[in-house]
Amino acid sequence: MEVETGSRTIRFILNGEGYSISSNPVSRTSDVLREELGLTGTKVGCDAGDCGACTILIDGEQRFACLTAAGQLEGHDVQTVEGLAKDGALSLLQQAFHRYGAAQCGICTPGMLMAAQSLLNRHAKPSRKEVEDALGGVLCRCTGYSKIVAAVLEVSGTSSSELPSSAESGVGARTEKVDGKSKLLGTEIYGADTAPQDSMWLRVIRSPHPRASFVLPASESIVAEFPGLVRMLTWQDVPGNKGFGIYPHIKDQPVLAKEEVSYRGEAVAALVGGRKSIESIADADLGIEWTPLAAIENYDDALEAQIPPVQEIHQNNILAEGFLKKGDAESIYQQSTLKAEGCWETSYVEHAYIEPEAGYALRLDQRLELFVSTQTPYMDRDEVAQVLGINPDQVRIIPSAVGGGFGGKLDCSVQPLLAVAAWILGKPVRCTFNRPESLASSTKRHPARMKASASCREDGTLTSFHFDGDFNTGAYASWGPTVADRVPIHCSGPYFVPNILAKTRALLTNGPPSGAFRGFGVPQSAIAHEALMDLLAEQTGIDALEFRLKNALRKGQRTGSGQLLENSVGQAECLEALQPRWKEWLKASMDFNEKSETIKRGVGIGSCWYGCGNTSMSNPSTMRVGINSEGLITLYNGAMDIGQGANTIMIQICSEALGLPDSSFRFIMGDTDLTADAGKTSASRQAFVSGKASQLAGEHLRSQIIHLAEAEEDANLRLEGNTLWVQDQNGEHSILLSDLLPRLNGDVLVGEGTFDPPTTKLDENGQGSPYATYGFGAHIAEVEVDLKLGSTRVLRLAAAHDVGRTVNPTQVEGQIQGGVAQGLGMALMEEYVQGVTENLHDYLIPTVGDMPDIEIMLIEDPEPLGPYGAKGIGEHALIPTAPAILGGIKHATGVAIHRIPATPDRVLSALKQKVNRV
Ligand code: FES
Ligand code: FES
Repeated sequence: MEVETGSRTIRFILNGEGYSISSNPVSRTSDVLREELGLTGTKVGCDAGDCGACTILIDGEQRFACLTAAGQLEGHDVQTVEGLAKDGALSLLQQAFHRYGAAQCGICTPGMLMAAQSLLNRHAKPSRKEVEDALGGVLCRCTGYSKIVAAVLEVSGTSSSELPSSAESGVGARTEKVDGKSKLLGTEIYGADTAPQDSMWLRVIRSPHPRASFVLPASESIVAEFPGLVRMLTWQDVPGNKGFGIYPHIKDQPVLAKEEVSYRGEAVAALVGGRKSIESIADADLGIEWTPLAAIENYDDALEAQIPPVQEIHQNNILAEGFLKKGDAESIYQQSTLKAEGCWETSYVEHAYIEPEAGYALRLDQRLELFVSTQTPYMDRDEVAQVLGINPDQVRIIPSAVGGGFGGKLDCSVQPLLAVAAWILGKPVRCTFNRPESLASSTKRHPARMKASASCREDGTLTSFHFDGDFNTGAYASWGPTVADRVPIHCSGPYFVPNILAKTRALLTNGPPSGAFRGFGVPQSAIAHEALMDLLAEQTGIDALEFRLKNALRKGQRTGSGQLLENSVGQAECLEALQPRWKEWLKASMDFNEKSETIKRGVGIGSCWYGCGNTSMSNPSTMRVGINSEGLITLYNGAMDIGQGANTIMIQICSEALGLPDSSFRFIMGDTDLTADAGKTSASRQAFVSGKASQLAGEHLRSQIIHLAEAEEDANLRLEGNTLWVQDQNGEHSILLSDLLPRLNGDVLVGEGTFDPPTTKLDENGQGSPYATYGFGAHIAEVEVDLKLGSTRVLRLAAAHDVGRTVNPTQVEGQIQGGVAQGLGMALMEEYVQGVTENLHDYLIPTVGDMPDIEIMLIEDPEPLGPYGAKGIGEHALIPTAPAILGGIKHATGVAIHRIPATPDRVLSALKQKVNRV
């Protein structure tokens, strides 16, 4: 037990009650609330005043609890999210958030609620601008802020944007999030919110160099030197495989590096002990001897072979290659008169989930339990087992609520380190990454260097497409091979092109590992294909939307990989839905530009398509639903909800299939001891794959009920306490559930469904059917560019997406709004640079003030394989945004931006080059 020095009594009012605590007056209030008073509703995303997750009210004004010393609370009135509800009943503000689906992952929600409450305390009827100003200090990475602002405006009565009415239950309903209330009350438990009382803390020691050799001091001497430090873990302490990685055959990332590091932020040792003790040890005091080495920093370094390769087994630094060939793109291009080409480069983009990586591990005899924020519990289980050298069934992953993932929590972070520490020390161990280490150590979106060209006939019909892309995969494999595989399939866009040649390479460098980030490389390649569509449209004199419509993939056509599209191809419908806005906005921007000299407006368009599920491989999901003797229905949902609403829509689908209302359901999410493997939450697969498994599980349970009651297939079901009533044309039958024997987890009837979407392997030319279905979409954006400052503002955006069937309109809209926000960030501001943008004030993500109005158009071209016709939307929502914004900049200014993001300096420099050319 660590002894707190310098404590004194601090008296204040907290959520209406008098408190007198003994605490260090310089402690962060966020820490005191969370660790000393157990009020974990106040979240911590940065500890630096950048994210606003810790926003509380002090005397009614919003304050960052992380920057407020506990001593400053003396004599003041403090309110946290836990104080908003009265007797467990949501406040009006919380109710509005719930109705609007304003909480997705929910990690920013307490801060948002408190910021909104402070405004409403002062101003009963704020304007939209005042709401945006009040929320401006709180970052949300999931929602795009639209529903949050709408909820605040509605509760203040300033505007009531009535939610469209819908069915009450099942598929198509605007069912409120089943885990929404706990997110609004501040009682939802995330990775950093709980741990066994006697847990030790773990802190990772990381490399300050992108490449270096190092010598660690002996662990024993370090432990002897620093009181409170129990152990310094090094690579030698890892009992099983010393490395981890996504692919079964590639475990190239060391749990703890041995002798050499390959990127800045790589883990070399882990200190375990009392929290204050390990935090007070400066890295420099450990006496690690570093010898910096020449680092491979870019594509040319990687390919030129002047510097020793990043990994010995990849002497040319090429981790993986992708290839697709259809027809003869090269000769068709050579013969064409109408053709366009270009080069584009994109940057490292950080996931910037507001919840940093966190969790705890606990050894129970010969088993290990890991409570962690993750997108993929079963992969974590297997990874931890191989690192410990034990069987997977000796590991139980208990997922926390996930405060945002976007692909970044598919890779291991705290998992192997916590597992090793708890396993060898036999004590519970917890860890929460701080923001700089989260930024430095987590995976990123692959930076890309792309060259592409395309040709068409005079009538605008596309004839060829050629893509050559290098993707910087950083120091370790992570998802690099997946990006290399997925991009060639998608890089020609949602268009019918008879001749395609596409090559990709995932190149190793001494950068942070690039991994999965909403789109697996497709958003980068969409920038290239959409710019080419604009260029060809210009050359042919065809309107940019019409050009895309003319070439849009349709049913009966084959994709670049030769796959016949037989069902659910709504690309043309998406473009048609946007046509009226496109014409209207083009005219509005022309009218504006006639009167404006230094500010110019333009409208751009981007299209997308995206295969739902893993590329050319089996990716099954199994879901279970049970009903117990008391009539309680439980969905055992292994499909991780990372904010996108999987918990809610899986219940909606299962309820529809079972024929009982979704309000009768509860759920268990992702616990590997209790739920079946539903695969990872990635690749826009859960609504489609696990949704179908939920439907099958519901149907399976229903068939057992029908059989027991000897009723007709179309019978109506009704639950009254522990009695199931089954009514068909022959009358009503009853099943007394308490008469049945328990089978699994106390359930007396259990339904199970498994779905594995049909795909085929690709041949050496990338030909085959890599996905069972694709989602389609298009965005248009009106932007305003300040020609003097180079700054770009997106004024409005319209998004049309073919989702097959909308399971829950609120959740789908939320995915699109959040995707637009991330696409906007990628287009205009987000750029991770090792050692430079390692916190949330240097690494910028969109705030509420950066967001445009977003109009959403949902197209439903049902996918027969999907649950009630549904397919994915998670990644599709982001892909067209950046191309639409970049197209808007070009339309407004006449200059094309080839280095992304289009920051003001890059826009200005492009404008200057244009002037010089003239
Ligand atoms: S945790 Fe306080 S502002 Fe981020
Ligand atoms: S809901 Fe705002 S960060 Fe996830």
